[in-house]
This record gives sequence, structure tokens and C-alpha cells, in this order.
Amino acid sequence: MALIPFDDRDGFIWFDGAMMPWRDAKLHVLTHGLHYASAIFEGERSYAGNIFKLREHTDRLFNSARILGFEIPYTADEIDAACKQVLAANGQADAYVRPVAWRGSEMMAVSSQHAKIHVAIATWAWPAMFADRMAGIRLDMAEWKRPHPETAPTASKAAGLYMIGTLSKHAAEAKGFQDALMLDWRGRVAEATGANIFFVFDGELHTPTPDCFLDGITRRTVMQIARRQQMKVVERVIMPDEISKATEVFVAGTGAEVTPVREIAGQMFTPARMTESLLNEYEQIVRMAPDQVERHLAG
Ligand SMILES: Cc1ncc(COP(=O)(O)O)c(C=O)c1O
Repeated sequence: MALIPFDDRDGFIWFDGAMMPWRDAKLHVLTHGLHYASAIFEGERSYAGNIFKLREHTDRLFNSARILGFEIPYTADEIDAACKQVLAANGQADAYVRPVAWRGSEMMAVSSQHAKIHVAIATWAWPAMFADRMAGIRLDMAEWKRPHPETAPTASKAAGLYMIGTLSKHAAEAKGFQDALMLDWRGRVAEATGANIFFVFDGELHTPTPDCFLDGITRRTVMQIARRQQMKVVERVIMPDEISKATEVFVAGTGAEVTPVREIAGQMFTPARMTESLLNEYEQIVRMAPDQVERHLAG
């Protein structure tokens, strides 16, 4: 497959408050965010012209920045409007939306108290992350562990936290897997490199307690859908030796959406009824207008 580099495309990117031609959205090599990972981002999807859970993503963007000690220099309304503006400028109804904020070039040591905070928003077409979804994906076990919340700002969607995600995903891909399941520093099941994980045990839906990794917006939506569907939902500590007892496994995230898992490092699963019914309802909900989503989930 021919790769089209992301800096070699046409369209528009919202950059520090203004729409800019895609190819001009550049930053200087001496940028604090690049050298020290003082950057945070969001991953959103627009379906049929509506960004699913836009305000929740924008709120998390602001919160992620605060956790890294900086303020986004716009209001949440301005960021929401800018996300929609970029989609419109790029003529997209179904697309991935990527807001990102970072410390600029004013200071280049570890301390960067006076760096300007930059914000950009790009959108691009991104069909289902994993093709032939019900076939399920194969996960390897990652060697890297999600860190202790006193070791890293784990509640932030901070760029630096993805360093071990990329390492884990590359190692898994090198062995023919699509992704990796990460444990946390205690050896508990945590999440995949870019999505949360769910298991079906005895007909109940179980998912790890998110105390050192993202409590994903998709994760919370899936839990609401499951409760609506009268499933029992259990958030708890899950140990790796329990995985073999699961009858169904799936991952959930904005990029991955709801994607069944058919293997975790040699243990096989068959995507089945509970996964399929959650996946189907998720696919319906993301295509609803925002007020309809809230009414549907509350009802
Ligand atoms: C590491 C990680 N965990 C979980 C998630 C799921 O979060 P959300 O459902 O809010 O997209 C993501 C992003 O998709 C992620 O990058």
C-alpha cells in the first residue's frame, strides 16, 4: 500500500486560531513539545457530519493540558467550533478529527514556563481501523507496562504516554499481531495501545478499573449501551490468568470503535452475540445527532 505522508496532502488545518492550507501548517524544529513531549491531543470521529461526543473530547483536551501544567488559550466553544470548521473546510462528513496542543519554541530547556501554547486541529478520512471487523483482531502481550500514576500523568492524553504504546504495537506487528494488550505496573490487565478492553465472563461484561490509563469515552459509552441492553457490567481488577476464562473479548476506542478480539497471545476467542449486539448499537448511536445520542443513552 502506497503511503501518502501526512505532510504531503491537500486541505486545511486550523492552526492557532486560523484556517491554514494543509501544507503550510508547520512548526519549528526547536519546539518544546517535540523535544520534551509537552504535548497533548484528542482523537475524535465525525459520523455523517456530527463529531461523536465532541464536548467530552474537548473537555478532556482541556483537562489533559491542565494536567501537564498549561492552559489551552481558547474556550471550549471555540475549540468545538474550530473542529466543525475544519471538517467543513475539508468537505468531510465522516472523518477522524485530531486536535493537538503543545508548548512552543520560546524556551528550550526542561523548564518552559514562558512558552507559547499552540493548538492545531486536522481532520482526515480514516475508515474502520481494523478491516473485516467481526473476524476479530489478534493481540500479543506487550512487554511494556502502563506506569504508576505517580510515575507519569496517566489521566492525561499526553503524547509522551504513547511512547510505550508505539514500542508495544511495533513489537506486536513484527510478530504478525495487530495490536498488544498492556498490563499495568502491578501486572493487572490494563488496555490495548490505543483502546480499552472488555471481556465476557459468565455472560457478564467485565472491564479493568481505569486507575492508571484512560477512562475512554467509547468505554463509557459501551458500558451505558450494555446496561441499556440489560447486561451486567463489572469494573474491577482483572488479572492476566483470568483471560483464558473469557468467552468474548473486544476493544473499544474512538479509532478502534468496537472491535472484537479473536486471540490474545495464543488464547483464542470467538466473537459472538454480546460483542455483536454492543457493536451494532454503538454503530447506530455514533450516527445519531448529538441530542439524540444523549436521549438514547439516558432512555
Ligand atoms: C491509550 C488509549 N486508551 C484508550 C483509548 C480510548 O479512548 P476513547 O474511547 O476516549 O477514544 C484511547 C484512544 O482512543 C487511547 O489512545
